[in-house]
Amino acid sequence: MNNRVRKAVFPAGGLGTRFLPATKVIPKEMLALVDKPIIQYGVEEAIASGIEHIIIVTGRGKGAMEDHFDHSFELDATLERRGKTELLAVSRGVSTLARISYVRQKEPLGLGHAVLCAKDIVGNEPFAVILPDDVIDADPPCLKQMLDVFNERGGSVLATMTIEGPGISAYGVLAGSQDSENPRVYNCTGMVEKPKFENAPSKQAIIGRYVLTPRVFELLEQTKPGAGGEIQLTDGILALAKEQKVFGYTFEGKRFDAGDKFGMLQATVEFALKRPEFADKFREYLKGLAL
Ligand code: UTP
Repeated sequence: MNNRVRKAVFPAGGLGTRFLPATKVIPKEMLALVDKPIIQYGVEEAIASGIEHIIIVTGRGKGAMEDHFDHSFELDATLERRGKTELLAVSRGVSTLARISYVRQKEPLGLGHAVLCAKDIVGNEPFAVILPDDVIDADPPCLKQMLDVFNERGGSVLATMTIEGPGISAYGVLAGSQDSENPRVYNCTGMVEKPKFENAPSKQAIIGRYVLTPRVFELLEQTKPGAGGEIQLTDGILALAKEQKVFGYTFEGKRFDAGDKFGMLQATVEFALKRPEFADKFREYLKGLAL
């Protein structure tokens, strides 16, 4: 087995119902955060973390993603003719960003099923999973931090964030003990989906970044559909944790749920405030609002 993580799977076959009506026709992953589709942030994070091959799991009506990462001949030719060299570089930059393969999930049968659709392209090697609606502001990138843990310890690595208080109930929560050497690392023994606050096994909420060994594919194949007839990635990882080491890792940085309307609003404000070309103007605007 090749032990270097070279490939990242982006499950993007879901229906995006939390963002209706915007996602009736436009894939959720193509919604713009400031001026970039949210999936592009994830692709850039993967490339900056050393990933060489991106696998996007798409579904019906999701073709805009393929067009986005492809050459746009008419647009590029027009920008060139008009002498818009900076915009041409932006457009060309997107289409040359990464080596990308696409695989269709014929029905949205759950996140675990979406990951399983990438099995043949990933093959027998460890791989990353990036949920494109989780946009993460971190330096070094979140996936890079996780790969450092993986390269040191092996096993599988789940990104987590610490949530104090009842808000933890909205997440899958990690069960396990904190590592004695590195307080950001947890030895994962299990996880509980959306527990009541008083039953939460820890304060570590699992978010949309994973480094997994290929054994998870076989385990997902054996996983029976759970709630809503969906095959859950969580069930595959729970089975994995019974056989191999699985670590939680509290990443350094900030995560936004851009697949949710409120999360997208928060991300928009914070990412806009980081953009040098209009940060000052935007800050003044926000200060001027009578809140
Ligand atoms: P979500 O639950 O956030 O996505 O899944 P969703 O189902 O599209 O959105 P809502 O809840 O209805 O608003 C996390 C990621 O997993 C993908 C989604 O596209 C999203 O990126 N996913 C989910 C699949 O690829 N296939 C599925 O069957 C389910």
